[in-house]
Amino acid sequence: MKILLGVTGGIAAYKSLELTRLCIKAGHEVQVVMTAGAKEFIQPLSFQALSGHPVRDSLFDANQEAGMGHIELARWADQIVIAPASAETLAKLRLGRADDLLTTVCLATDRPIMLAPAMNRLMWSNQATQENVELLKQRGFTLLQPDSGEQACGEVGEGRMPEPQSIFEALQELQKRHFENQQAWSKLKELWTGKSLLVTAGPTYEDIDPVRFIGNRSSGKMGFSIADVAAKAGAKVTLIAGPVSLATPSGVERIDVRSAQQMFEVVQTHYAQADCFVGAAAVADFRPAQSQQQKIKKRAGLEQMTLELVKNPDIIAWVAQQDNKPFVVGFAAETENVVDYARSKLKSKHLDMICANQVGENQGFERDDNSLTVITANHQTTFPNSSKFQQAMALLQEAGQKF
Ligand code: PMT
Repeated sequence: MKILLGVTGGIAAYKSLELTRLCIKAGHEVQVVMTAGAKEFIQPLSFQALSGHPVRDSLFDANQEAGMGHIELARWADQIVIAPASAETLAKLRLGRADDLLTTVCLATDRPIMLAPAMNRLMWSNQATQENVELLKQRGFTLLQPDSGEQACGEVGEGRMPEPQSIFEALQELQKRHFENQQAWSKLKELWTGKSLLVTAGPTYEDIDPVRFIGNRSSGKMGFSIADVAAKAGAKVTLIAGPVSLATPSGVERIDVRSAQQMFEVVQTHYAQADCFVGAAAVADFRPAQSQQQKIKKRAGLEQMTLELVKNPDIIAWVAQQDNKPFVVGFAAETENVVDYARSKLKSKHLDMICANQVGENQGFERDDNSLTVITANHQTTFPNSSKFQQAMALLQEAGQKF
C-alpha cells in the first residue's frame, strides 16, 4: 500500500518516525509531507532516511512540483494519514482550506484519510475543535481518539497522540474496510447499472382540515438513502417522496406527494417502467373520511370529538398484484415481534422481499442509523446496525441478486 504520511506541528511529531518505520517494515511505501510547524519540531532528513523519499513540504517548490505535483501526490497515495493532526489542521480541513501542501493534497484526493489528533487537553475539548471533529467524521474522515495521560505541556488529560503501533493497526483496518467497500460498489454497479428503481420514502399526511393532518415520524432518510445508493450504482431512479425536508440525491428524479392517495396515483403511472419497486414510505393506513374545507372550530361546551377514518389503498399490495409487476420489496416497521409480523406481511401482500425494522424508542424513525432484517420466502439475513446509507447498500445487493 502507498501511504502518504502528513506530519503537522506538535511535539508528537517525533512519534511519527516510529510510525514510518512500522509501515516500511510491513512492506508499505511511504511518502512524507511536513507542514512548516512540523519542521519546527523535527528535521525532514529523519523522515527521508526512514522512508527513502525526499520529504515534501512546499506547494510552490518548482523542482518538486515538476517531479510530482500535489495532484499526482494525491493520486499516488492509497491512503493518507495525518499524525499528529494539530487543532489548526483539523480546523483547516473542516473549512476546506488549501494554503499548504498537506491541506491541498487532502482536498484533491478521494482516498481515505485518517487523522490522529494531538494537542493540549483544553484545545482538544474546546467546542470549536469538537465541532470540527464531528463534521470531519460526517464527511468520511476516520478520526482516532487521542490517548489520555501526561502531556508535554505538563498538564494531564486527553489529547496525546495514540501510540504509533495503534495508529498502524488502525491504518491496516481502514485499508481493509476501504477495499471491502470498493468491492461492494463494483458488485452494486454490476447488479444495478441500467436497471430502473421506483422507491417511495417518508410519511404521508392525511389532511383533517386546512391546518391539521394525520402523519407519522418517518423522516424519509431510509428511502432517500436507497435512492442515493441505487443512483450511485448506475440505476435510473424515481423517488416518490412524502412531505420531508431532505435534499434530492444527485441523479435521482423526485416526485413530491402529500397523501397516500397521491402517492398511489404516482406509483400507478410509474410502476410498469420499473425493474424493482421499494416501498420504504410509512404510508398512512387510514385517512379522515372527509377533509374539511375550513378550519374546524372549537365550539363552547365541546368536550369530545370523533374523527371518522376510512382505509387508504394498500399501494405495495396493489403493485404486487399486477401482471407486469416489478420485483417488489416492502418494509415493515414494527415495535414488537418484528420478524414474525414482517413475515406475515410478506405473505399477505404477496411481496418478493421485505425489510423488517424495529421502530419506537430511539429506533428506526428519524435516526441516521438502522438495522434491517431482509426476508424472502426461503431466506433471512440481518445487517448489523450501521448508517442508513450502509443498510441501503446491503439491501440493494440482496435485492439486486434476487432479481
Ligand atoms: O423515514 P425514516 O425516518 O428513515 O424511517 C424509516 C422507516 C422506519 C419509515 C422505514 O424503514 C420503514 O420501515 N418504512 C415502512 C413503514 C411502514 O409503514 O410499514 P408498514 O408495516 O405500515 O407497511 C408495510 C409496507 O406496506 C411498507 O412497505 C409500506 O410502504 C407499505 N404500505 C403500507 C400501507 C399502505 N397503505 N400502502 C403501502 O404501500
